[in-house]
Amino acid sequence: MAGLVVKLSRGMTITVVATAMSLSALAAPPADWSRIPVHTVKLFYPGQASYDWVTSAAHKRGDRKVKAGFACLSCHEADEAQIGEAVVKGGRLEPTPIAGKTGVIDLKVQAAHDDAFLYLRFEWNTQMARAG
Ligand code: HEC
Repeated sequence: MAGLVVKLSRGMTITVVATAMSLSALAAPPADWSRIPVHTVKLFYPGQASYDWVTSAAHKRGDRKVKAGFACLSCHEADEAQIGEAVVKGGRLEPTPIAGKTGVIDLKVQAAHDDAFLYLRFEWNTQMARAG
């Protein structure tokens, strides 16, 4: 059983309360999230890359390593921004690009817990916040 608290503002914040018990028990997310460490994750626009493309010669040396079982991150760590910006523009892996779409966003992740609950907080700037 999990619950969601959604706060909409110029950015987007989602707080997830996860528990093995009923949500009717007293969940008490941190009152002050500013004291919880923030881990930032880059999320890139996924586009549409088929497995056929990933294992084709067009993927340069990636094709052989993927077939051999190497993880994507073994080559692509820290490539998120560059891949996202390339894919969102279309042309190669995204057949129907959406005008004005962002190639990469920073997702702020925070986690806290008490005896019964795990609290996860995800925060990112929306398209509107970036434009303003
Ligand atoms: C051996 C290293 C290697 C591995 C492992 C690898 N890649 Fe790649 N990948 C590359 C290289 C090099 C390029 C750049 C190819 C180019 O620019 O034409 C690339 C390009 C890409 C692109 C294209 C981005 C663009 O510019 O349009 C995508 C998407 C991608 N890889 C996804 C993956 C995925 C998903 C996996 C895991 C299943 C993976 N790669 C594993 C080396 C790798």
